[in-house]
Amino acid sequence: MKKLVVFASGSGSNFEALAEACERGELKATIELLIVDKEGAYAIERAKKYGIRSLVMLPKTFESKEAYERAILAELEIIEPNLIVLAGYMRLIGDTLLSAYPNQIVNIHPSLLPSFPGKDAIGQAVAHGVKVTGVTVHYVDAGMDTGPIIMQRAVNVVDGDVEATATAIHQVEHELYKEAIQQIMK
Ligand code: GRF
Repeated sequence: MKKLVVFASGSGSNFEALAEACERGELKATIELLIVDKEGAYAIERAKKYGIRSLVMLPKTFESKEAYERAILAELEIIEPNLIVLAGYMRLIGDTLLSAYPNQIVNIHPSLLPSFPGKDAIGQAVAHGVKVTGVTVHYVDAGMDTGPIIMQRAVNVVDGDVEATATAIHQVEHELYKEAIQQIMK
């Protein structure tokens, strides 16, 4: 069994899809810990449902980004995860974590990178008028959504409709993330 630690900031639907896949044995892994950087993030409620321990780590309570990441590192060193999985974690990963876990941090992004990196990727795609967008799972580097691509899947844009396009994208995300993680953990 491989060990995962998930980082999230918000709703956590991708986290839940992975928790479900672990429980069903579709993913040969266990989620050992959820780390959240925002109080009240709904991901925490989802973790309770699956009996997964969660930890709220608020960056503003540390004197620097480095100190914040060193505190996370101390938690990770107890677990020794095979992979760190970012699932809607709205923060760039710094050198402290990147150098401790080279090629062991992955992210999911709701566009076909390198198109539409950064915030509101679905809104950006719809506003641009592209007909096809999608989902990318990639390794994390120091940039914003710039690391090496692991898997991508296309999703048709529902004409001018951000909400409907987002629904289609999230469905694909929940499938693609577990496939990509299963593939790289082999
Ligand atoms: C997803 O669209 C993911 O691609 C992006 O942030 C969103 C997180 O959604 N990085 P959720 O919190 O997993 O529901």
